[in-house]
Amino acid sequence: MKKMEQLYEGKAKKVFKTDDENLYIVDYKDDATAFNGLKKGQIAGKGVVNNKMSNFLMQIMEKNGIPTHFVEEISDRETVVKRVEIVPLEVIIRNIAAGSFSKRFGVEEGKKLNCTTLEYCLKNDDLGDQIIAIGAATKEDLDTIADLTFKVNDVLKAYFESVNIELVDFKIEFGKTPDGQIILADEISPDTCRLWDATTHEKLDKDRFRRDMGNVEEAYAEVFKRLGL
Ligand code: TMP
Repeated sequence: MKKMEQLYEGKAKKVFKTDDENLYIVDYKDDATAFNGLKKGQIAGKGVVNNKMSNFLMQIMEKNGIPTHFVEEISDRETVVKRVEIVPLEVIIRNIAAGSFSKRFGVEEGKKLNCTTLEYCLKNDDLGDQIIAIGAATKEDLDTIADLTFKVNDVLKAYFESVNIELVDFKIEFGKTPDGQIILADEISPDTCRLWDATTHEKLDKDRFRRDMGNVEEAYAEVFKRLGL
């Protein structure tokens, strides 16, 4: 496998083409941003932690019947993934109120929600129709995405519970393979999940960076350790 030209540089990752047209290489950076890039910084070692953690969790998803882009980890920061076209949606699951949900609805952070909520990045009641209307996804794709997202939540939540971590909420993204299959893409990491110690409720995720709470690297390392990595 040969790493070829860079295709894209995002806030936390770079994506490269390879000599196989159906495979890309993702390269995880230590860069961290918040508030749509207004706040910028670095979290030392984050790229390594997120690469390995995301790969570990993607493989758990695969074992539970959820198709993902994961192919092979080739270095501390680099992973081979399937080529997909990213569905332009951020899909968010919430088990416990926090972050923008708490702000929007005036619900205190930490309140367990009566039911798990699923939202897409544009927050709107008619969103399902809007997404289809603007062509971001088809009705069938959205049904698949919603089903897979709830499944991801069930598996991920149970897994984190087994290491005494509460899965408060998370954001995932999906991609479409050249043959039209919807698969889990992007990453699953403390950048994209809210993870709290189940006993102390201490935050073990990127909120420590967003909110200038300190001990950011230590929090990522703690999750890493609990997953046995
Ligand atoms: P929110 O409460 O700020 O809407 O965030 C919900 C979840 O989505 C939380 O786990 C953090 C994650 N998230 C991202 O992964 N990327 C983002 O750009 C934002 C705003 C949130």
